[in-house]
Amino acid sequence: MRKPLIAGNWKMNMHWNEAMTLVADLVYLESTQDWDGKEILICPPSLYTRHTVEFLKNARSSIAVGVQNCASTDNGAYTGELSASMISQAGADAVIIGHSERRQYFNESDEELLSKVRLSIANGLRPIFCCGESLDERKSGAHFDVVKQQLEDTIMKIEAIDFDRIVIAYEPVWAIGTGETASPEQAQEMHAFIRSLVAQHFSSEQVERTHILYGGSMKPSNATELLSQSDVDGGLIGGVSLKAEDFAAIITA
Ligand code: PGA
Repeated sequence: MRKPLIAGNWKMNMHWNEAMTLVADLVYLESTQDWDGKEILICPPSLYTRHTVEFLKNARSSIAVGVQNCASTDNGAYTGELSASMISQAGADAVIIGHSERRQYFNESDEELLSKVRLSIANGLRPIFCCGESLDERKSGAHFDVVKQQLEDTIMKIEAIDFDRIVIAYEPVWAIGTGETASPEQAQEMHAFIRSLVAQHFSSEQVERTHILYGGSMKPSNATELLSQSDVDGGLIGGVSLKAEDFAAIITA
C-alpha cells in the first residue's frame, strides 16, 4: 500500500511574513485535523528552507520540507546555484526536478535533469521528478510518447537501487495554473502507463512502491476524484498550496 503524498509547490510566491504565517497555519490545521496516513511536503522558496525546517521541528510537525530545484553540478564556481548537498544540509527532504516551468523558462535538458536526480539521491534527497505533455502534444495524440521519452532519457537510466528514492509527478502542462484539470480517467490512464514503463525497467516490488503524483490545477473540488484513482498516489499542488485551508482540504480529501 502506497501512503498518499500531498506536496505543495509554492513556486516564487509568498514574502517572508506571508510564508511564515502559512507554515504556522498549516501546523495549526495539522494539529486540529486528521492527517494520519498521509505524507505532507511543502516546497517554499529555497531561501526559507532552513527556517521552515526549524519552525516545523520545534512545532513537532510531521510536515516535511522540499525545494523546487537544485544545481546539476556539485559545489564550485556556479554563481547563483544551490547544490544538492547544501539543500540537504539545510534540512530539506526532497527536491522537485524537471518542472515544466524550469524546462520551458530555463531550458533544462534531460541530461541536466538526470544529473540533478543523481546528485539529489547521492545527497539523501528524494527527487520529485516531473513529466507531462503540452496541449499541442495532447491534441495530436503524442502524449504517451512524450512522457515516455521524458522518463526514459532521465530517471529510467538510474541504478535500480536508487530508483526507490524517486517520486514521479505527472503534470500535463496544459493543466498547470490554467484551472483546466486532467479528468480522473485521463490521469489514471497516464499514471497506469507510467507505472507500466517503470515495470519495464525495474522490479515488480519497485513498481508497487513507486509514488506517482498528479499535478495541474488540483483543488478541493476535484481532489477526491483524482486521488481515488488506483494509480494516483498523491498530488503536486501549486496555486492551492498557498492557501492553508484549501491545501488542508486536499489533504483530507
Ligand atoms: P497548479 O500547479 O496546481 O497551480 O496547477 C501545479 C504545479 O505546477 O506543480
